[in-house]
This record gives sequence, C-alpha cells and structure tokens, in this order.
Amino acid sequence: MKGNFIYYNPTKLYFGTDAINGLDKELPNYGKNILLVYGGGSIKKNGIYDATLDFLKKHNKTVFEDSGVMPNPTYKKMLNGIALVKKHKIDFILAVGGGSVVDYAKAVAELAYEEGDLWDRFFVKCEPIVGKLVPFGCILTMVGTGSEMNGGSVITNEQLKIKDAIMVGPEGFPKFSILNPEYTFSVPKYQMLAGIFDIFSHILEQYMSEGGDSTSDYIAEGLMRSLIYSSLIAKDNPTNYEARANIMWISTWALNTLISKGKSGDWNVHNIAHGVAAHIDSTHGMTLASVSLAYYRHILNKGLHQFKRFAINVWGVSEKGKSDLEIANEGLKAFEKYMQDLGLILSLKELGAKESGISDYVASTDLSNNGFTATTPKDHEKILLESM
Ligand code: NZQ
Ligand code: ZN
Repeated sequence: MKGNFIYYNPTKLYFGTDAINGLDKELPNYGKNILLVYGGGSIKKNGIYDATLDFLKKHNKTVFEDSGVMPNPTYKKMLNGIALVKKHKIDFILAVGGGSVVDYAKAVAELAYEEGDLWDRFFVKCEPIVGKLVPFGCILTMVGTGSEMNGGSVITNEQLKIKDAIMVGPEGFPKFSILNPEYTFSVPKYQMLAGIFDIFSHILEQYMSEGGDSTSDYIAEGLMRSLIYSSLIAKDNPTNYEARANIMWISTWALNTLISKGKSGDWNVHNIAHGVAAHIDSTHGMTLASVSLAYYRHILNKGLHQFKRFAINVWGVSEKGKSDLEIANEGLKAFEKYMQDLGLILSLKELGAKESGISDYVASTDLSNNGFTATTPKDHEKILLESM
C-alpha cells in the first residue's frame, strides 16, 4: 500500500428488510425541525413516503417538505433548499431517494451556513467549509452513486453548463443511511442498469490507476466479480432479493473511500461523462457506459499491466500462448460483451448528444492527470467521436 492516510468513515448503515427501524434509534438524536427531501414522487407510489412519515410522526417531529429534486440536481434548486433550511431553522435533513436526492440534501446540508458566491467558493475554488453543517441522513431508494456513505455531492450549474462535485471529509458524510434492498425493486429497469454500470465504473476508475501492489486492487476485483454475477441475475429478475442486496452492498463499498486507498484514481470516464451530461441532462450511468470503451481503448497501452490483470482476474481470460496485449484486449472485449448483455446504452447519440456539440462538451470538462496517461483535448475529442 502506498501513501500515508487516515481511514475514517462515520456513516452508520442499517441494512436489510428491517432497516427502516433504524429511524427509532436515530431520530431521537436530532432536533424537532426536519427537512424531508425527495424527488419527483416515486416514494409516494411505492409507499416509502408513508412509511417514513409514520416514523417522523411517532418521534413528534415537525416536518417541512422539499420535493421535486430532479435527476442531475441543479444549483438553482440547491440555493432554494438552503433558503428553506434557514427559514425553518432545520435541525436535521432526511433525504429519501436516489443519488440525486442524497447529493442535493448533502450539498444543502454542507453549504447552508456559508456566505458569498457558493459556486465559485466551493465548486470552483474548492474552499474548505467553515460554516455550521446541518446533520443529515438518508433512506436510499436507488443504488449506484455511493452517496449514502461518502462526502461527494454532484450539482449541475445549469447556467454555466458545468456538472461538478464538492468533496467534503467525514464531517460531511451522512450520519446514517437506511439500505433496504426491497426499496429498489420499483426502480425502472433502465435506471437499475444505469446504477449497476455506475457502480462498475466507480470500481474500475479507481482500479485503472497506479498504486503498485495494492490490497485495494484485490478488493476491487472481488467487488467487480460479485457485481458481474449479481447484475446478470438482476437484469432478468429484478426482484431477486439476494442479487439486489449484493448490488446495494457492492455499490456502497465501491465509493466509500475504501478502495481508493493507495491508488491515484483516474476518474476521466466520469469527467468526460459529466461534460456531456451538463449539456444534454443524460442519465449518469448510461453516459458513463457510452464513453467507457473508447476511453479504455485510449489508455490501454499505457496501463497494459493493469488491463492484463483485469482480463485474467476479473474476466478469467487464459494467458496461454498470448502476448500481454492480446490478453488485455481479450479482457476489454469481455467487458464490452458484458455491457451489451446487460443492455446498456453504448452510444452518446442515443442519449441525445450530437457531433456538432463535441467542442461544447470538451469545454465543460475538467480532465484529471491521475491515470496512466494524460488525455489531451485532441484525444478527448477523438474519444467523444468514437463514443457517438
Ligand atoms: O425522482 P423520483 O421520482 O424519486 O425518481 C427517480 C429518478 O427519476 C427514480 N427512482 C429512484 N428510486 C426509485 C425510483 N423510481 C422508482 N422506484 C424507486 N425506488 O430514478 C430516477 C433516477 O434517480 P437519481 O437519483 O437521479 O439516480 P442516481 O442514483 O443514479 O443518481 C444520479 C446522480 O448522482 C450523481 C450523478 O452525477 C447524478 O447527478 N453522482 C453522485 C456521486 C456521489 N455523490 O458520490 C457519484 C456518482 O459518480 C454520481 O456522479
Ligand atoms: Zn458515478
């Protein structure tokens, strides 16, 4: 393992079909005024809204609602949420929904008592948070982002056409997360598959970076193998509890800072996808799927040792009589076949992107240099063109 680090993750997880009872333990720890944050209404159809309100009533909470959080939550919406927190002197924020709802609640909780131009201070200059953080927790209804156990929050500035994240340390993590795999059964198949690929991409983007002989790589390989197995079951049988439970658990461990330890972390698949989504508001996981293959083909030669390892340890490619390049390419082919078998969208055009928009997508992207090789703006254009 390389580097010096502190590992501390304070989010308490309640997992399983009884998870919501965790609210009995958690709610007494916070004040009376609760901001209940949710999205476009799925929680009213599947009963999770009523179940949550029962607990809030039982604990004599005064509930203020902040609904209508959209997929790819906007900066404007975030500012409205902050105004609500101040107006109602909110003691605790409870997010009930997918990654967008949790990210939104997190950003509101973290930035509520900051002053000035919040976009410039926290999304551009990445200043540390100095104001009071409002404690928050979540009831997760869709799996993929890992937001339930990390300090990341992705917000889209709809005016500037930039989709960017604030990353806060453990003080900005949810106090608790309620993870009931059955709550994800009502997620539409398209969103379930997008979430599955988001998980895969989180693991792979950390794995496909330097780190020497790192335990993180062995954990990542186990997570990817378990995800491949369970996702192919869930694709045909979305109510298979064991598969959905495994996927939920893998998702949390894919992006809760564990497997990033000792690794540089590439993250350019996410960066490239965010640049596109800032313009076309596309589903996160499907945007990642559409740009992944072209990106990995672009970096394969520079990270050949790791692509070979990926082929052998994740896809079971045999080494016999093959060059390293042949093995690595076979692994990438197996990955592509898996993506096709899942039924992911593998073309940006299908998501609504246009070749004429490529320069705009590039302009909205901040690439990292933490992977095996630097990606120039020319490479970036080529990757986008290949992803069309
Ligand atoms: O809004 P509602 O009505 O709830 O419907 C949602 C939404 O339309 C629906 N849904 C969620 N749970 C459901 C359900 N429908 C039926 N039954 C349920 N149980 O699913 C749709 C998509 O939800 P959303 O929250 O947008 O999906 P996801 O969880 O993929 O979140 C995506 C957002 O997270 C960010 C993405 O960029 C995107 O903005 N990310 C956050 C990260 C983090 N915090 O660490 C990392 C990720 O890489 C990602 O960037
Ligand atoms: Zn993601």
